Amino acid sequence: MKKKEKYEQMLPQLKALTDGVNNNTGALANAAALIHETMGFFWTGFYLVKDNVLHLGPFQGPVACYTIPYGKGVCGAAWKESKTLVVKDVEEFPGHIACSSLSRSEIVVPIFKADKIIGVLDIDSTETGTFDETDSDYLEKAMDILSRNLV
Ligand code: SME
Repeated sequence: MKKKEKYEQMLPQLKALTDGVNNNTGALANAAALIHETMGFFWTGFYLVKDNVLHLGPFQGPVACYTIPYGKGVCGAAWKESKTLVVKDVEEFPGHIACSSLSRSEIVVPIFKADKIIGVLDIDSTETGTFDETDSDYLEKAMDILSRNLV
């Protein structure tokens, strides 16, 4: 199945899984699991804004760093710039934070709630150039669905 088709199947499942759940940790954990399993990524998870720092949230994959300051790494940069960042080769991103030495490319999608960024979705791949506009388009849609169901 092509990437686009996998995302097309995944979005309605994400909606069904998180609609009216009233449990942020559970909804984030299931969203990470669904995206990770459907797409076969290396690391899929959330960093959540608290006290002006990103804190590790629910994720799937190898262990990860606990905190990321504002503007630091790909996650902190996506937060600061208020936009999705696609990094084709992490070695060419100044300040990339290597939670795993196996990570080669990355996408970070901010999660907006009432026009404020409450966290980011971070996905890592062990290959360069994994992520493109298809990923950013669908993952932004996914984060809209998820954000509506966070309380
Ligand atoms: N690489 C990220 C840090 C988080 S880990 O990839 C899970 C970054 O540069 O922000």
